[in-house]
Amino acid sequence: MTTRQGRRPTGRSLDDLQQAWCAIGDAARDRAPVAGWTHNFYRYPARFSPRFAAAAIQALSRPGDLVLDPYMGGGTTVLESLAAGRHVIGSDLNSLATFITKVKITGLTLAERRALRTWAEHEVPSFTYDLPAEDVSAFIDESKTRNLSLARARFIKKSMAAALASIVELQTSNAQDFARCALLRVAQWALDGRKRHTPLADFRDRLARTTHEMLDALSGFAAHVSDTGGRATLLNTDAADLPRAAAFADSRSRAALVVTSPPYPGVHVLYHRWQVDGRRETPAPYWVAGCNDGQGASFYNFGDRREAAAERYFETSLRTLLAIRGVMRDGGYVVQMVAFNKPEEQLPRYLENMRLAGFSEARVDATRELDEGRIWREVPGRKWHATLRGKTESSREVVLIHRAE
Ligand SMILES: C[S@@+](CC[C@H](N)C(=O)[O-])C[C@H]1O[C@@H](n2cnc3c(N)ncnc32)[C@H](O)[C@@H]1O
Repeated sequence: MTTRQGRRPTGRSLDDLQQAWCAIGDAARDRAPVAGWTHNFYRYPARFSPRFAAAAIQALSRPGDLVLDPYMGGGTTVLESLAAGRHVIGSDLNSLATFITKVKITGLTLAERRALRTWAEHEVPSFTYDLPAEDVSAFIDESKTRNLSLARARFIKKSMAAALASIVELQTSNAQDFARCALLRVAQWALDGRKRHTPLADFRDRLARTTHEMLDALSGFAAHVSDTGGRATLLNTDAADLPRAAAFADSRSRAALVVTSPPYPGVHVLYHRWQVDGRRETPAPYWVAGCNDGQGASFYNFGDRREAAAERYFETSLRTLLAIRGVMRDGGYVVQMVAFNKPEEQLPRYLENMRLAGFSEARVDATRELDEGRIWREVPGRKWHATLRGKTESSREVVLIHRAE
């Protein structure tokens, strides 16, 4: 068996590669809901499966290697790298992504855990919307609560303000961020895409329960990572700026493996908004997380979905790929999950960008279940918006595996 390039990537036998492809392919097609570790602290849009990230890390890196995810989103690769004892750098230009990933991987002291359990048991049941405006107005950021005064959101909004007011009483920033993340998770459930009003009692019960569940999950994860010795650095950076990040200043800090999922051409994902009351968008996630809101959807999607030729998408993609290559070790691998709304036009352009950035595709011939040596998967119930016109094919994703030349 040979790779499509007709030569064998150094350092690995073809049997190893064949096995790697099969393991990554099986994991990529896994349709089980996201579960495990602290993955469910937030439902980050377009997240990929932890099993996929874990399979790529196991197959194409070794303990102690540096793994990079330049578009980390909810931190799936970061968590699985830590769990596997790798050093990992996770970066994203969305401050919400950095916030969520930080909470998912930051262990808490016994005192912090106790304070959070007390908060869940004694404070959360008292959250109400029946509060004097002066008690909560200091906690309502008008610029980040747009559309939360709509009918299905307004009672939850006041309860969220009450929650934010009580969170500042927690003694440490790690405990406060953890509580904000629990609130974020539950408010997302209560508001985002919800067709009916969420009763306040359900909101409070769920917040208390979620806080306890998250604390249990974090304790298990932190204990495991202290055994594996994994280490993480998180950045809130445009991928194009990675070579200038202090984390890569030392030329020995080069990634052996990138496991990632970039924005998709022609596919518009709402990373930065929830939709309330008939699809009206709110920036409330940034209000709850206490982060800066990064602007419009085009900021997070490599450009505007209305640009027919997606020129800006491919320009931005090339700029970021060159930067990623600049922080990788020669011979390292990039494993990425991508979708295209017009695969016949966009896949060749995407592959050309990879080539221009210094990567060669590593496909394995004649492997069962592979389509032209590539792994494709159907996307179950994905919530995104493809181009405004025409039929979309973006319900299929492809796994691309490249080697840094
Ligand atoms: C498909 S999501 C990644 C999801 C992630 N794999 C997970 O499991 O949660 C793509 C991410 O790319 C980020 N992003 C978009 N443009 C970027 C850029 N120029 N530099 C860094 N991150 C960017 C978005 O904010 C988004 O979080």
